Amino acid sequence: MELVTKRPRGTEDKLPKEIYKWHTVEKIAENVAESYGCKEIRTPTFEHTELFLRGVGGTTDVVQKEMYTFNDKKGRSITLKPEGTSGAVRATIENGLLNDALPFKTYYFTRCFRYEAPQSGRLREFNQVGIEYLGTASAAADAEIIALANDIITNLGLKNIRLELNSIGCPKCREQYHKALKEYYTRYKDELCGTCLERLERNPMRLLDCKSEICSSYKDGAPMILDYLCDDCKAHFDSVKKRLDALGVKYTVNPRIVRGLDYYTNTVFEFISNDIGSQGTICGGGRYNGLVEEIGGAATPGLGFAMGLERIIMVMENQQLDFEPEKKCDLYIASFDEETNIYAMELVKQLREYGFWAECDISGRSFKAQMKYANKINAVYCMVIGEDELKTKSAKLKRMSDGTETPVTLDDKFAQKLNTLVMDICL
Ligand code: HAM
Repeated sequence: MELVTKRPRGTEDKLPKEIYKWHTVEKIAENVAESYGCKEIRTPTFEHTELFLRGVGGTTDVVQKEMYTFNDKKGRSITLKPEGTSGAVRATIENGLLNDALPFKTYYFTRCFRYEAPQSGRLREFNQVGIEYLGTASAAADAEIIALANDIITNLGLKNIRLELNSIGCPKCREQYHKALKEYYTRYKDELCGTCLERLERNPMRLLDCKSEICSSYKDGAPMILDYLCDDCKAHFDSVKKRLDALGVKYTVNPRIVRGLDYYTNTVFEFISNDIGSQGTICGGGRYNGLVEEIGGAATPGLGFAMGLERIIMVMENQQLDFEPEKKCDLYIASFDEETNIYAMELVKQLREYGFWAECDISGRSFKAQMKYANKINAVYCMVIGEDELKTKSAKLKRMSDGTETPVTLDDKFAQKLNTLVMDICL
């Protein structure tokens, strides 16, 4: 028989045998986020399209080219979220969370959807862990959130990751900067792609992240935003750098970083790996002081970042880093007939209540086939329940790695005994 259809291009199946890698990364990210006082938020996978038009911005590649947008059965325009910030900020405003103690700090794990050309490290459905802080304009928050990202990266053990930092100023400094960009790119007007021609009028900064060969070839000679920062933005950026220095977070200033989403103001940053090819940005973020107001809340500064989990796992695999070891079946209980199998099921039930991974036959297999299965799933211990064991309520625990046998009584101390044996193996 032939499969009706395969998975869509640019998507991945995360299979059970690899899932321990995901759990490792998620657990570390969650622990670090919580140590900074962040609480998890879960928002819908799809939102009304207007949210992203306003939040991410109508002149970005994400909105213009990459969104999965469709009309629902009532004709409403719906979009699968291309990123996590807009939804998290919308939910924060809608649920009145900005009336509580500020800054509001939150983290999330989310799937994102972008119709991009798939390649290694670039998917159409991918996963992010994100952090957002709302309600603080202080440079201390910028430094803290960058330190948070850095801590996740360090705790994962990632090596050779560089942090690049820039400031893209506030709307006031942007006015002058846009003028300069417009002047610069107008010289090449005849060669620019159609999208950039339109952006030249609406949002010239977006020309700096056009991926077309010709437009991007003019990027290097373009004016740089750092030369146009107003005094306040300059002071803010200096303070962020000073604080990062004090925290021992190493960075380089890259005046070319503009980020691909419109909501950013002031500090922007990226953590980059050279070990996974051209899609090496494992984390991107920055400040977005206008976003809350843009999507309908009271003016509230904000900032955050998101890490691409697929890319992080690629780096970890590439650098052969340790993931938390895959769990193993603690005990497989083999049996011979219905009566012994029922007893095995009772024992397994008790062991599971103690938190063990315990299994017995649920497929009507022969004894031989059960032992084969126990081997296949790498059970640490195996125990056989036959007529005698049933009668005497005692059996032997066999360590599968070397065949060592330990006699056990199947009473209420059995779970404790198994625990000691399993712990001994872990030591
Ligand atoms: P972003 O830079 O678009 O920012 O995405 C963040 C991270 O998601 C990237 O650094 C990358 O690791 C991963 N990523 C992006 N696109 C793909 C893709 N097609 N395939 C695989 N991984 C990908 C944001 O999404 C912002 N919401 C970050 C943020 C939060 N800024 C403030 N708060």
